Amino acid sequence: MTSRYESVLAELRAQPRTWLVTGCAGFIGSNLLEALLGLDQAVVGLDDFSTGYQRNLDEVESRVGPARWARFRFIEGDIRDLDTCRQAVKGVRHVLHQAALGSVPRSLHDPLTTNAVNVGGQLNMLVAARDAQVESFVYAASSSTYGDHPGLPKVEDQIGKPLSPYAVTKYVNELYADVFARAYGFKAVGLRYFNVFGQRQDPDGAYAAVIPKWVSAMIRDQEVVINGDGETSRDFCYIDNVVQANVLASLAGPEGVNQVYNVAFNARTSLNQLFELLRDILGRNGVAYARAPRHGDFRAGDVRHSQADIAKARGLLGYDPQFDILRGLEVAMPWYVRFLR
Ligand SMILES: NC(=O)c1ccc[n+]([C@@H]2O[C@H](COP(=O)([O-])OP(=O)(O)OC[C@H]3O[C@@H](n4cnc5c(N)ncnc54)[C@H](O)[C@@H]3O)[C@@H](O)[C@H]2O)c1
Repeated sequence: MTSRYESVLAELRAQPRTWLVTGCAGFIGSNLLEALLGLDQAVVGLDDFSTGYQRNLDEVESRVGPARWARFRFIEGDIRDLDTCRQAVKGVRHVLHQAALGSVPRSLHDPLTTNAVNVGGQLNMLVAARDAQVESFVYAASSSTYGDHPGLPKVEDQIGKPLSPYAVTKYVNELYADVFARAYGFKAVGLRYFNVFGQRQDPDGAYAAVIPKWVSAMIRDQEVVINGDGETSRDFCYIDNVVQANVLASLAGPEGVNQVYNVAFNARTSLNQLFELLRDILGRNGVAYARAPRHGDFRAGDVRHSQADIAKARGLLGYDPQFDILRGLEVAMPWYVRFLR
């Protein structure tokens, strides 16, 4: 039987559309860009390179080849500027809004900038997209919105209090999208990503995510620090599952829009388990790491356990993630070994 995703991909290949990817030079944005160009879509990209890189765009260009790359138009600009957002959405049918300042610790150090980009920037994008009458607006929400709610697995309509300024901004994104749907008949879908990982996720800097940070430490034979006792757990989600969710959400029928969805795999891996997994897979990629990890303090603002119920996305979008953490790491690791060695 053909899956919903396969039929949507066939529809897009048969009749290509124009998309806008904000944050296209970042990790998730550049993977969305690569997937869309691979499907012969036309794509406008917007990024200010604050946490993204030209090298990510260069890699996509070399992967997709000149004919497909010619269907890409890049705008270097800031989503805090409404005119830039208006310019970017011109002639666009589907918006994938990924630009934001990620990281819980960054938001604790600098809540003003995180708020200005994540809330002010998204509001600009919503206004620009509403006025340009785009067909769909899919935006990156976050599992951090579950905050201190103890329930597991996480179900979309049961959230707690946010534990960081970042989590507040991502919740406000959902509230604004919902109000735009009610007030202006706008069609928006929020995707609450759970710890996404894969090629091009930045391994460097103070705010790197755990997988690229540890992989980089292991490849460079540096110490790995586990925050707390290592029993903190996460529902790690490989990037291809996220690409699938974005495409499905963009072409969702009336029952699927104006909703938020968990985007994860529905499994839980502790940090201690993750350490062993990474060491094993790196070993199979020719990198032997013999050091023991050091346990540091628990990190402020972190949720203790996270695992998603993905039944809503399965039921309303046809989301069917194909990559568990093991399969995802096996695909991603050669990229990291090439990039970091
Ligand atoms: N990676 C995850 O696990 C995860 C989890 C939950 C939610 N998210 C969300 O997914 C989205 C993408 O995250 P990512 O991991 O790819 O991060 P990333 O930092 O790699 O990508 C974000 C991109 O947005 C760009 N950007 C930032 N501020 C901008 C501005 N003012 N104007 C224009 N561009 C700007 C950056 O330069 C970067 O290229 C973000 O909204 C993030 O909050 C990510």
